[in-house]
Amino acid sequence: MSKNVNRIILGIESSCDETAAALVENQGGTFKILANVVWSQVKIHQKYGGVVPEIAARNHVKKILPIIDLALKKSKVDKKNISGIAVATGPGLITSLLVGAQTAKTLAYLWQKPIYAINHLQAHLYANWLNNQPIKFPAVCLIVSGGHTELILMKNQTQLKKISETLDDAAGEAFDKVSQLLKLGYPGGPIVSAMAERGDAKAFKFPRPMIQNNNFNFSFSGLKTAVLYASQKFSPKKLKSYKLKANLCASFQQAVVEVLRAKTIKAAKYYNAKTIMLSGGVAANQLLRQTLEQKTKKMGLKFLTPKPELCTDNAAMIAAAAFFTKPTPWQKIKVDPNLSL
Ligand SMILES: Nc1ncnc2c1ncn2[C@@H]1O[C@H](COP(=O)(O)OP(=O)(O)OP(=O)(O)O)[C@@H](O)[C@H]1O
Ligand SMILES: [Mg+2]
Repeated sequence: MSKNVNRIILGIESSCDETAAALVENQGGTFKILANVVWSQVKIHQKYGGVVPEIAARNHVKKILPIIDLALKKSKVDKKNISGIAVATGPGLITSLLVGAQTAKTLAYLWQKPIYAINHLQAHLYANWLNNQPIKFPAVCLIVSGGHTELILMKNQTQLKKISETLDDAAGEAFDKVSQLLKLGYPGGPIVSAMAERGDAKAFKFPRPMIQNNNFNFSFSGLKTAVLYASQKFSPKKLKSYKLKANLCASFQQAVVEVLRAKTIKAAKYYNAKTIMLSGGVAANQLLRQTLEQKTKKMGLKFLTPKPELCTDNAAMIAAAAFFTKPTPWQKIKVDPNLSL
């Protein structure tokens, strides 16, 4: 990225159940969020216990233009001063992605702006640049979200290499499923972590899946099943106990955090990392943030994580990623629900 750029990007995000638009300015290498609007459909999908793709897409169609309009108004940026439009083109739900991509293409054509096709996972990573802190390479980055749990090696700010992934459930998915089986609600991550604060993390001895393995991969489906089996030992009446549920949540969260910390630190040592980054929706988890930060600092490495509201899906991270991405002709923009890093 050139040091002399002074550009404003309109970011658009619609990969799952958040309709989001943001304006991000880059002044000679310093990022400034001018507006960041996120409209969450959580309340709409709550009664189904998860995101219903058809309903998500219909709501994106309803909301995407008002949300973009609101972001433009909040930023006070005239569209003639926008230097490009960035949109998440995958991974995600295909019908949701299509709404964002079609909108971005139409605006790019009408306004005659370059368009940037952004990988949603890369955007989670580039959310770290919104902190405006110097980043030393190599960096090991943990992306931990609703659909992914991956370790990425960054040799510089554009060279990314995936070094591991989850073999089954993502960590966020495990939080959501544990919440569902304890009948706590959706989305599970924030609810389970709030319950965990009032529970005893040593109450249940849950497994730390693959923590001793030689590779950096993850697995969370067995841990989720262990919580299920532990809960089945109690009668439905006993399971209503707040204390019992809080203990299950705290013990589960502790197991997830320990595995994420151990694998990330192991990878950081192996690759001689100078920086550890943490991003994705589960990075909003306070215990994970504190645990990884403490360990990173003890090792004398730099620790970076976005503000919690920039960890979960948002369009500021999509706009940030555009500063590291080449534009694509609008005719060639395609969505890919399975896009990987
Ligand atoms: N405080 C928290 N603790 C644990 N998990 C959390 C917390 N806050 C959010 N999450 C989890 O983060 C996930 C949502 O993250 P995000 O919005 O990045 O996922 P996604 O966009 O659906 O998936 P992906 O980014 O992999 O495509 C959910 O699984 C949610 O439960
Ligand atoms: Mg996400």
